[in-house]
Amino acid sequence: MDKIVIKGPNQLKGSVQMSGAKNAVLPIMAATLLASGKFEIRNVPNLRDVKTMAHLLRIIGAQVEYSDHKLRIDSSNCNFFEAPYELVKTMRASVYVLGPLLARFAKAKVSLPGGCAIGTRPVDLHIRGLQQLGANIELKHGYMVGTAEKLRGAHINFDISSVGATGNILMAAVLSDGRTVIENAAREPEITNLAKFLQKMGAEIEGVGTSQLQIHGVKELSPVDFDIIPDRIEAATFLLAAAISSGEIVLNSVDAAHVGSLIAKLREAGVYVEEGQTSIFCKSPERIKPVNITTAPYPGFPTDLQAQWMALMCLAHGSSVIRDNIFVDRFTHVAELRRLGAQIELSENVAVVKGVPNFNGASLMSTDLRASASLILAGLAARGRTEVLRVYHIDRGYETIEKKLENLGADIWREEGSY
Ligand code: UD1
Repeated sequence: MDKIVIKGPNQLKGSVQMSGAKNAVLPIMAATLLASGKFEIRNVPNLRDVKTMAHLLRIIGAQVEYSDHKLRIDSSNCNFFEAPYELVKTMRASVYVLGPLLARFAKAKVSLPGGCAIGTRPVDLHIRGLQQLGANIELKHGYMVGTAEKLRGAHINFDISSVGATGNILMAAVLSDGRTVIENAAREPEITNLAKFLQKMGAEIEGVGTSQLQIHGVKELSPVDFDIIPDRIEAATFLLAAAISSGEIVLNSVDAAHVGSLIAKLREAGVYVEEGQTSIFCKSPERIKPVNITTAPYPGFPTDLQAQWMALMCLAHGSSVIRDNIFVDRFTHVAELRRLGAQIELSENVAVVKGVPNFNGASLMSTDLRASASLILAGLAARGRTEVLRVYHIDRGYETIEKKLENLGADIWREEGSY
């Protein structure tokens, strides 16, 4: 358990390269179970979650190698159909193997994820959708135990837009008999990337990028090479790092369209943002204007940026309201930001943030991935020394964040140890 130390205040300047998207590569790794053979996946970020998914695929029997941001996966000899609790509890996205295992091997045993730092996150939509496709799923000893003689197409109507459930059902449906329609499908770019990967494998999917996916099941899929999209949450986090530090930076290897909701809010807050083909320039004023946000499914404001936006609003010139409608109890960063001097009132899923002129450095505890990012951002702006403990959370989803910030001029480093 390392810690990250920051001496502030910092002003970011320069350019930085963004990595591939964690939330795209994880389901795509699971989707390699749908065919037998050798895959090459490029632009894969070097992250703990990717290693965890690689570990899970190896348990199932795949060969997985990772180097130079490339994954080589050989799924020819898969013969074990279980995702154990020890892995699923460390990474919820492990449930992505449920759909592919049922579709290709007609059996799967996947641990229920249990609780996590951002509250109760059920998997009922995954289970119900797979049952509609004809799977038999029972809950036994903390596991989802599924069998499916043959999956068959169905009309599935999600009452909530769920990234994970859309991905799982999509992966099961591509090898099902007949036609599946998913209504209220998630439109997140990572789901679109997954759908394109499946299409390249030979799947027949219409409506990609919309909230209605139509899938015509095929008998067999083939292994392919594929490129992962840039990570929009990493990119957005760096834009917010520039904003909180009155910085001026260029992001390279990004898709500006994927961070449209954030760019709109940054402009309202007074930040100058210029979108290029694969880059974004941003220049921040001395003091930010307060801007309210409410999280929503894509293309709305992402819940994965709520904590980082809050860090920025804590230093804005005035008050703002932050509402999380996706994960209503994702607010563990509030108590930590208060330790720096933030003035935040929290009532259920709504935070009222009264901007203060400065933060003063302190020791802070990471609680989850995006909360950790918000604390690092806050530390960049704080006067004096800030330590962010239990930083293993950040390694789940940001590739060498401290190195990238250091290259932008921040006084930041990692200390190894048991903090
Ligand atoms: C994914 C992302 C995560 C992001 C979240 C919302 C990955 C690996 N993770 O998580 O970073 O914060 O989308 O954008 O891509 N829900 C149910 N029942 C279900 C499934 C979900 O009620 O069976 C609810 C959740 O509690 C939540 C909402 O649906 O309120 C959206 O969650 P979902 O999109 O499923 O999140 P994940 O796929 O877990």
